[in-house]
Amino acid sequence: MSLLKVENLTKSYRTFNSLFSHLSHPALQNVSFQLEKGESVGLIGENGSGKSTLARIISGIEKADSGHVWLNGTDIYQRKNRRQQISVVFQDYFSSVNPTMTVLQAICEPLLEQKQAAAKSLEPLVVQFLKKVNLSTDCLHKYIYQLSGGQAQRVCLCRALINNPSLIILDEALSSLDIVTQVQLLELLIELKNEFQLSYFFISHNIQMICYLCERVLFFKQGQIITQSDIENLAEIKSDYAQKLIRSVI
Ligand SMILES: Nc1ncnc2c1ncn2[C@@H]1O[C@H](COP(=O)(O)OP(=O)(O)O)[C@@H](O)[C@H]1O
Ligand SMILES: [Mg+2]
Repeated sequence: MSLLKVENLTKSYRTFNSLFSHLSHPALQNVSFQLEKGESVGLIGENGSGKSTLARIISGIEKADSGHVWLNGTDIYQRKNRRQQISVVFQDYFSSVNPTMTVLQAICEPLLEQKQAAAKSLEPLVVQFLKKVNLSTDCLHKYIYQLSGGQAQRVCLCRALINNPSLIILDEALSSLDIVTQVQLLELLIELKNEFQLSYFFISHNIQMICYLCERVLFFKQGQIITQSDIENLAEIKSDYAQKLIRSVI
């Protein structure tokens, strides 16, 4: 059974073009794919092609107009399935975590939603996770807004990991960081993937990063998967659009 099965997802947004009329703009059109346990899949596509919409729907933040998302064979919209097994990290860390929380509070928040526990009692666990993402325990009582971008994104990763998920969705999660921090976090993602037997759904406009982290890549255009390829066969890809995206960074 696949870890993630996405079936015929369709989503449109209404945009008002005058007071009395609106246009329906399709963001996703019949998107289907599967991701096996332990496999990591990249998603690349031009701006506005619907990548973040897909990420929000798979993580259960937003509902599709039609279609299904199955995680280990169960429907994602049953809240308990989603909470424990999928985590998501976005590009803009200040929209993922409340900047006025402390690091301890931010990392504990997903656990506190499930369990009746005090943040204080979870401190030893949080310290363990801080070590895993190479953050000093001095950070524990700092506020999120006091951290650098790279540190804040490491906190978001801790938050994503603490529920022991089987899938982490990373939506341009490294894009706003400087290149040195990007490389450090990419290496960290590989270590975490091996240690926790994680799968990633890695959305990026950087094919090199996708090649480093994933076994397969989906090419996305106007809300549709145009083509896909195993990383090792990328040189043989036929689609002009895919070739253009690959060439744009190499
Ligand atoms: N909440 C929303 N309301 C209206 N339109 C939206 C909303 N979110 C996304 N869109 C539109 O859907 C399309 C896909 O957006 P998005 O998923 O953010 O693309 P990407 O992440 O690939 O850049 C865009 O045209 C965008 O303007
Ligand atoms: Mg996006």
